[in-house]
Amino acid sequence: MTPPLMTPPLMTPRPVRFLLNGRRVDITPDHADVTLLNWLRQDAQLTGSKEGCAEGDCGACSVLVARRQPDGRVTHDAANACILLLPMLDGMAVTTVEHVAGPKGELHPVQQAMVDHHGSQCGFCTPGFILSLLAGWRSGLAWQRPEIEDLIAGNLCRCTGYGPIITAAESLAAATPPEWELARIAAEYDFLEGHHAQRQAHGLLTSDHGQSFYAPDNLDDLADAIAASPDAQIIAGATDIGLWITKQHRHLPAFISVMAVEELNRIDEDDAGFTIGAGVSHHHAQQALREHFPQLDELWRRFGSRQVRATGTVCGNLANGSPIGDLAPAFLALGAELTLRHGASSRRLPLDAFFLGYMDNALAAGEFVQAVHLPKLDDRTRFRAIKISRRFDQDISAVMGAFALRHDNGVITEARVGFGGMAATPARASACEAALIGHAINSAPTERILTALDGDFTPISDVRASAGYRRAIARNLLIKALTDDAVSLAGAGVHSLGLEGITA
Ligand SMILES: Cc1cc2nc3c(=O)[nH]c(=O)nc-3n(C[C@H](O)[C@H](O)[C@H](O)COP(=O)(O)OP(=O)(O)OC[C@H]3O[C@@H](n4cnc5c(N)ncnc54)[C@H](O)[C@@H]3O)c2cc1C
Ligand code: FES
Ligand code: FES
Repeated sequence: MTPPLMTPPLMTPRPVRFLLNGRRVDITPDHADVTLLNWLRQDAQLTGSKEGCAEGDCGACSVLVARRQPDGRVTHDAANACILLLPMLDGMAVTTVEHVAGPKGELHPVQQAMVDHHGSQCGFCTPGFILSLLAGWRSGLAWQRPEIEDLIAGNLCRCTGYGPIITAAESLAAATPPEWELARIAAEYDFLEGHHAQRQAHGLLTSDHGQSFYAPDNLDDLADAIAASPDAQIIAGATDIGLWITKQHRHLPAFISVMAVEELNRIDEDDAGFTIGAGVSHHHAQQALREHFPQLDELWRRFGSRQVRATGTVCGNLANGSPIGDLAPAFLALGAELTLRHGASSRRLPLDAFFLGYMDNALAAGEFVQAVHLPKLDDRTRFRAIKISRRFDQDISAVMGAFALRHDNGVITEARVGFGGMAATPARASACEAALIGHAINSAPTERILTALDGDFTPISDVRASAGYRRAIARNLLIKALTDDAVSLAGAGVHSLGLEGITA
């Protein structure tokens, strides 16, 4: 039976409007949770984007999404169409593989490079690679190897192999944009600006068949809507929720999106730290914070793929409360706080009071995460965040350890240690933290400290790691965090102290 339509207050229904391959689309889809990929392939008959995994892993469905940022810049990112919901595209410009070549069929430089360097064999993955390369092209990538590897880490190819694809990408450093592409970019810009100007006068909505999707464009309306419809599904980048739909086949009757509120799409900086709004993506945060937190830059490099980081949000990663979410341990160690909003009132909560139990958090009904605050590091605090996963790229953690150690005269005076993968929630290692006080900053932990760490957690065995492995890894991460600087000063290899000595 179709559930009743849940209409949040303040919602004025209108179709979803976006630019698809240069043409404006106004559509009220049959279902609010239809994925962009299914709509493209089944309704729009654009079958160039492929479905490989339907869970954001393989990149075969990649499309290019251009979006106007609050400061007026337009960003161009590859995104996984299989886990994007169609209503999320409102006000954006989408390019699929059918619209990469020129108006007379001229190959785009990224396509020509793939041809010239034999970058494709079976072609199932190729549309996705083309769109990822196009995203790099439109974003002004320098086409150096590390950047290229990061750019295509979310695209799987099992036939060609990555060598020719990387060579093709490297060749793009010398290519120039064709006139027709510049005209397309200008037309996209006009659409994004026009929509933005008009959007301030309207709210957003698409709804049909008993489902609703509401994307208020200001914070007060968002807070009122969530408070008035506490059962509606709060949605941000949908890199978790998309899988509930494609893999778990959950039926969600009502969505309220945080993404259209401009003030939530910002990172504000003051002397104390950074305030990251609920709509800020991982990619945005990675770029904005890499100078102050180079260790987070490296962590984000290991977080999902460019597609996932372009869409998924920092606050979504904290709000979902996964015990193996990557940001929570690092943010716990850094002393992050949340602003939680309910209607007109808000409260501030330390992140370590937020996680209550397995996938359970301190949000009251009708409340949401408005922002996360990260204090700045001072020059006496050493911060390390280390992720252990089975693969380097695109893999969720088995264990994640983060350490913020303040020291004076060579001795630790304050310690904050966060772990993921060791308990039902991301958690601090409080006994270990206490044992670290007074310990020399650049010397390996004593057995007393390691035993304290053992006592902080009772990890479980699952498909990612056994309990014994997790315990051993946690010890090794602590050793690495304490000895990294000492080892590099001594000129020895960091790895000699990093992951050896695992007894599990
Ligand atoms: C291929 C792939 C790879 C991934 N790799 C990693 C990885 O390496 N490390 C990792 O940690 N995660 C990973 N993830 C998980 C996911 O990307 C992150 O958890 C992401 O940050 C979730 O953010 P989102 O904006 O997409 O959340 P959504 O999917 O929109 O929402 C997730 C949950 O958070 C809630 N929520 C979102 N925003 C708010 C808010 N402001 N207030 C209250 N509740 C809110 C939603 O209601 C929902 O319950 C991966 C996912 C995929 C598909
Ligand atoms: S189909 Fe695999 S990432 Fe979308
Ligand atoms: S050419 Fe990429 S999977 Fe075959």
